[in-house]
Amino acid sequence: MSKTTAKKVFDVAQARKEFPILERTVNGHPLIYLDSGASAQKPQSVIDCIARYYREQHANIHRGVHHLSQQATQAYEDAREKIRQFINAEHAHEVLFTKGTTDGINLVAAAFGRKFLAAGDQIIISTMEHHSNIVPWQMICEQTGAMLKIIPINKRGELLMDEYESMLNDRTKLIAVAHVSNSLGTINPVEDIIKLAHQRDIPVLLDGAQAVPHKRVDVQALNVDFFAFSGHKLFGPTGVGILYGKQALLNDMPPYQGGGDMIERVTFEKTTYNTLPHKFEAGTPNIVGGIGLGAAVDFVSQYDEQEIVAHEQNILAYATKKLTDIDGVKIVGTAANKASVISFLLDGTHPFDVGTILDQLGIAVRTGHHCTQPLMDFYGIPGTARASFALYNNRADVDALVAGVRRAAAMLL
Ligand code: ALA
Repeated sequence: MSKTTAKKVFDVAQARKEFPILERTVNGHPLIYLDSGASAQKPQSVIDCIARYYREQHANIHRGVHHLSQQATQAYEDAREKIRQFINAEHAHEVLFTKGTTDGINLVAAAFGRKFLAAGDQIIISTMEHHSNIVPWQMICEQTGAMLKIIPINKRGELLMDEYESMLNDRTKLIAVAHVSNSLGTINPVEDIIKLAHQRDIPVLLDGAQAVPHKRVDVQALNVDFFAFSGHKLFGPTGVGILYGKQALLNDMPPYQGGGDMIERVTFEKTTYNTLPHKFEAGTPNIVGGIGLGAAVDFVSQYDEQEIVAHEQNILAYATKKLTDIDGVKIVGTAANKASVISFLLDGTHPFDVGTILDQLGIAVRTGHHCTQPLMDFYGIPGTARASFALYNNRADVDALVAGVRRAAAMLL
């Protein structure tokens, strides 16, 4: 769907009807799904697209002259083009299909790292990173002798930008930070992060997994060098994601994996590589995943971004107020600029127990360290309960959560 297409007015009651799973019950209660940060539910249009593809179109792509292969290839490349428009990349070949955010970050760590990192070089990440934006860098640091530098945060869960600025130096080779924190909801000042890095010609990778479901990202306006996100958090299928990279950087990087489709010519003596995007897409990809992600992009693109942002901010403010009103509830992550994610603790209880009681009431939240153990260490806690809201959540969902947390407090304290 092009950006100029007229937008549908956003109405949460209508939007909910697009998600069949929201009609089911769990443990005898209507499902209250507050775990979209872990994985978002799927609209009927995405479900239909996947079924239609397998029913009518499936064949391998980029490999056959026969009709079905050509049709599947066209559908896959059409999806890439939709995603290019969605993030406003300049070229479709800068939009690489991956398995997800983790895969995209591993690709950059391995390929960029092999080419550009040497002993003594530095990569900057932050205290609030997901393990997927920590471990790949640790692995490439081990191989190259480069080292990690960590941007500190304050107790509200905001990056200390002065510290970040003072960390930049001639040895800094890459910045890799979360656009939006999965555990805290903090929306990081990525424009400033990128500007400061670019003043020293340092490229920036953003982990956009938690950003794209909540806000429209324009990679050219941001001038970001790499941007990774997952399909399944954006109402699309699991096992597919996108890595955007500027073509000059991607062209300079060696391939990540070897195999079919990423080659130009193979002999036993030497192999030459295909052009972008194929150079980074070895093997038969998740074809239906890519096409389904295109359908998910169509789904979100039908709405005006500002209406979604306003709706989610409204839910966030309502839920923050209602939860804070409960004796013993402490919110972890109180940044001034937040997406609709609330991590919380109930004094004197373990998040796992709170999550279990909520589940008995049909309410799905995530509990634990949320794959951010260093961040939990910073707060001195083992984990939190986390409610993460998507465009289909409404005030009734928040009321159910609040009633559930009050019930947990009555039972556990
Ligand atoms: N990274 C996902 C989350 O935050 C799985 O839950």
